[in-house]
Amino acid sequence: MTSPWWRSAVILQIYVRSFADSDGDGLGDLSGIRSRLPYVKELGVDGIWLTPFYPSPGADHGYDVSDYVDVDPQFGTLDDFDALLAEAHGLGLRVIVDIVPNHTSSEHRWFRNARSRADHPDRARYAFRPGRDGGPPNNWTSAFGGSAWTLDEESGEYYLHFFAPEQPDLDWHHPDVRADFEDILRFWLDRGVDGFRIDVAHALFKARDLHDMHEPDPRPLFGDWLTALQQPELHPLYRSWRKLADEYDGERMFVGEIVIADQVELSRYVRPDELQLAFNFTFLHERWDAEALRITIDRTRDAFDAVGASASWVLENHDVTRLPTRYGGGVGGRRPARAAALLLLALPGAAFVYAGQELGLEEVEIPADLRQDPIFFRTNGERAGRDGCRVPIPWSDGPPAFGFTTGEPWLPMPGSWVDQSVTAQQSNPASSLALYRAALALRHGSAALRAGSFTWRESPPGTLVFERTSAGETIVCAVNLEAEHLELPEGELLLASESVTGNRLRQANAAWTRVVV
Ligand code: GLC
Repeated sequence: MTSPWWRSAVILQIYVRSFADSDGDGLGDLSGIRSRLPYVKELGVDGIWLTPFYPSPGADHGYDVSDYVDVDPQFGTLDDFDALLAEAHGLGLRVIVDIVPNHTSSEHRWFRNARSRADHPDRARYAFRPGRDGGPPNNWTSAFGGSAWTLDEESGEYYLHFFAPEQPDLDWHHPDVRADFEDILRFWLDRGVDGFRIDVAHALFKARDLHDMHEPDPRPLFGDWLTALQQPELHPLYRSWRKLADEYDGERMFVGEIVIADQVELSRYVRPDELQLAFNFTFLHERWDAEALRITIDRTRDAFDAVGASASWVLENHDVTRLPTRYGGGVGGRRPARAAALLLLALPGAAFVYAGQELGLEEVEIPADLRQDPIFFRTNGERAGRDGCRVPIPWSDGPPAFGFTTGEPWLPMPGSWVDQSVTAQQSNPASSLALYRAALALRHGSAALRAGSFTWRESPPGTLVFERTSAGETIVCAVNLEAEHLELPEGELLLASESVTGNRLRQANAAWTRVVV
């Protein structure tokens, strides 16, 4: 493995409640994940990122934490966590946990105290403010719809929540908040986690003047316009976290969820003494278009290279529509999604794969009465929300539960997934799972793919061709997005997203070729 490991790691994101259920309650849990670690190992990733499994009332499915140093009984116990961690490490897999520092749950002891009386010391941990002109203190809206302020009837003041009202924002200017989170980081580092994914890492501090912000209509997918976020105080904070993690052996790391489009701004968070990685979300909202992707790749590489950081690449996560659906759905969506997988895994840097992505799962249409995402409710159904990409993993058998649970899955699983279960795909060499496994195995065995230099090759319009080279090995990744066909270079064809005939790559296909230069 390249050193440090995270520079070129491929991490499988596990949405805990949707991966595997061990006790039949219809929700995934830590023991379920543990039982599926052999699958993760065989997939060929370097590690897993677990979404929040801490005690939580579940208003945002775990992103509303009521205790940062325990496990929600729905998901298991601290012993289960330790067992999962030990077993993962035994298999050579790294484990990253999610840390949610921007807000707590409204059921967190601090917030309960804060609300209990206006002079409680914990009140200063949050942003309580008097209203303005009979309404909230400023014009901020919640990312989930509606105002970002809720009136605390008892005191007559409003409190800030960038997300749901059950997720009150912490005031990071308060020294106790900072000190407590250091303890929380240490708690998990002491247990042996390899790193943290930092939830909305650009949002922790708010501009002290809480100035009004001009919200473009429609609200953009990236948060660059949120001028009261991305405060300069974040950088010294992350430097101190980096120092803290560096006190531990084993190359512990952070990956920040920083939802901005400006790559240069993004790269400031991964300067040598700050976070190791930041998610690069540009692909999440990019069309299947050669020029658009080329520009995105160049901008990312330029910005990250300039600070000596490793780039990262993301096609899917638990907040966006599944990729084959974004690319149009059906066969027409699955084909480019397979090609995109070879692009993702050939680019220099770290890559994140969202569980189910390797199966080529599509977004699921969830009936309104079964929807759970607060986004759906806070926008009165105007925005469908994220349930459709969070449907449990189909492991085996058929509907209704596909081996995910012996009970009833927390979201309905489509009957049409019979051909897409892990067991079905395992025995099919043409499956999406087989493609991911083959690509990850090749990447694992190739210094060129993991850490080699990157050079574009000239190629016809509508295509992307680049090479990765290291110590005498050159691998060319050719992606034909929308050209009639693309001539593959001479060499050994290692892998293609669909079978290749006569050295020509059809539209919406990609291939890796080992060439002699
Ligand atoms: C992040 C998470 C998202 C969550 C939000 C609030 O964006 O990825 O799922 O709803 O933060 O914590």
